[in-house]
Amino acid sequence: MCGILAYVGHREAYPVILKGLKRLEYRGYDSSGVAMIHDSIKVYKKKGKVAELEEFLMGKELKSTIGIGHTRWATHGEPSDRNAHPHMSNSGRIAMIHNGIIENYASIKQDLLSKGYKFNSDTDTEILVNFIDDILIHNSCSLEEAVRVALKRVVGAYVIVLLDEENPDTLIAARKGSPLVIGIGKGEHFLASDASPIIEYTKEVVYINDYELAIIKSDELILKNLGNEKITPFVQQLDLELSAIEKGGFDHFMLKEIYEQPKTIYDCLRGRLDIAHEDIIMGGVESQIDKLKHANRIIIIACGTSWHAGLAAEYIIEELCRIPVEVEYASEFRYRNPIVNKGDVIFAISQSGETADTLVAIERAKEQGALIFGVLNVVGSSIARVSHAGAYTHAGPEIGVASTKAFTAQLVVLTMIALKIAKEKQSVSHDRFVELLHELNALPEKVEKILSDVSSIQSIAAKTANANSFLYLGRGYNFPVALEGALKLKEISYIHAEGYPAAEMKHGPIALVDESLPVLFVATRDAYHEKVVSNMQEINARKGKLIAVVTEGDKTLAAFTKDIIAVPAADEIIAPILNVIPLQLLSYYIGVSRGLDVDRPRNLAKSVTVE
Ligand code: F6R
Repeated sequence: MCGILAYVGHREAYPVILKGLKRLEYRGYDSSGVAMIHDSIKVYKKKGKVAELEEFLMGKELKSTIGIGHTRWATHGEPSDRNAHPHMSNSGRIAMIHNGIIENYASIKQDLLSKGYKFNSDTDTEILVNFIDDILIHNSCSLEEAVRVALKRVVGAYVIVLLDEENPDTLIAARKGSPLVIGIGKGEHFLASDASPIIEYTKEVVYINDYELAIIKSDELILKNLGNEKITPFVQQLDLELSAIEKGGFDHFMLKEIYEQPKTIYDCLRGRLDIAHEDIIMGGVESQIDKLKHANRIIIIACGTSWHAGLAAEYIIEELCRIPVEVEYASEFRYRNPIVNKGDVIFAISQSGETADTLVAIERAKEQGALIFGVLNVVGSSIARVSHAGAYTHAGPEIGVASTKAFTAQLVVLTMIALKIAKEKQSVSHDRFVELLHELNALPEKVEKILSDVSSIQSIAAKTANANSFLYLGRGYNFPVALEGALKLKEISYIHAEGYPAAEMKHGPIALVDESLPVLFVATRDAYHEKVVSNMQEINARKGKLIAVVTEGDKTLAAFTKDIIAVPAADEIIAPILNVIPLQLLSYYIGVSRGLDVDRPRNLAKSVTVE
């Protein structure tokens, strides 16, 4: 949610910032801007994607070795040139970029208005930069001190980076609740919302913590807390290759990431699935095994696609571990005075590890004494830091805004966690445990098989690309798959889609069914199969356009529809990991055939760091 990029060093700042903003564009792309110091501070901003800013700046003299850049996902104020960042202070001395939300901006604005301040935008950022400016002017202090004073009054989440005309060799940055990483080069520093723009210059990075302030010159990085005490920066080596964040010959990141799934699933299993010793090795689970196996209840907290992984986990954990599970939308859990008892364990599922709704919800549960177990993709992310223990999904950077490989990795990790707890708790038989280990082990090859022939998916996409609405139905383990299929389609194609439990459909949504409505059943062979076939009959009788995801070799559904997508046979607990892949591809091909930007769908952002 908003991408931040700043540079100070010996290179021209603009090309570094522009390239970095393109890498961070998945975080927000309704407008972008840069500021540099060339005698005085110059700010350039443009509504639209970074390419539009680039075109606007073509041929302009942008010489500076220090600068800040921003790509925005609008919160306060519509996407426009004037609301784009950076924002200047009224005095013209400082320019600032910001990711996050200043919740008490209205009261600060009132104070500033009474002092004669004028605002050119609708943003909370412009209020904060002027608040800092005001402190600077009235206290004749350093900018660093003014930032410290201002942040003590600010309520909300932020990463800010400031450019100061009076100190043209220094950047000042601070963070609370939004991510900031500093890359350390030779005589240069890179500041970014994540490591992707930094990786091609250096692998040495420092992750800034909440309530820390960084004072950065080309050859100096000073970290302090808000009490002005120095902190020793903890320098880490990035474990990331450039190829992981490039398209690698695919038309879109989304397609690349769908096709990466055999590898990401393999990476997720590697070192954990111990077939030889019939065991699962997961340090995070083992470190908390007593609390996990004796949990009175597991509460899963997540949003969006991660919530769907949580719903699938509810079915799996209850079946294998016999522990009651509740799955909560993080944004609802936080605000409804939830009951968290001793002995409850919270599972926080998040790809980015930065989702504000999830972060705030688990902080609340943590205060109430719960064990927080993170299922996360991004190492060192905010949610990772507040979790007591956890398991990483190892899916690698996910750049496409719609989550694909992260979802299947979440399902794999959650299944392994459930199996490990069940084994320790002896709530699963040894034979069943071993059977599921082999099923997991076979996954990469089966995913490979689905991806090797997508012709049926492409032809269904071509037939349905102009639909106004879609219904996705599934039962049991396939119900979360139906929800995820519908979400993917909405995000990528802007076609309205609903996911529903297949049998619940007759209690209302069946009224929507006519010959124009595509109804996709996730109907692979499982305990519910016959019931699902009956539900398909009900749609067929009302002339809905049936599409079915079926188990290879299953001919029972051929009588209803030609629009069939076959997936390899798998145990019903494991099948959702396979079944979702054709639905990801269907959304992708429909989105592409509608001429849409599938990697950057409208109004969305990858990492939602506002509540
Ligand atoms: C959907 C999607 C979102 C995210 C949700 C949670 O494709 O990407 O629904 O799943 O915003 O994000 P994380 O998992 O980063 O907490």
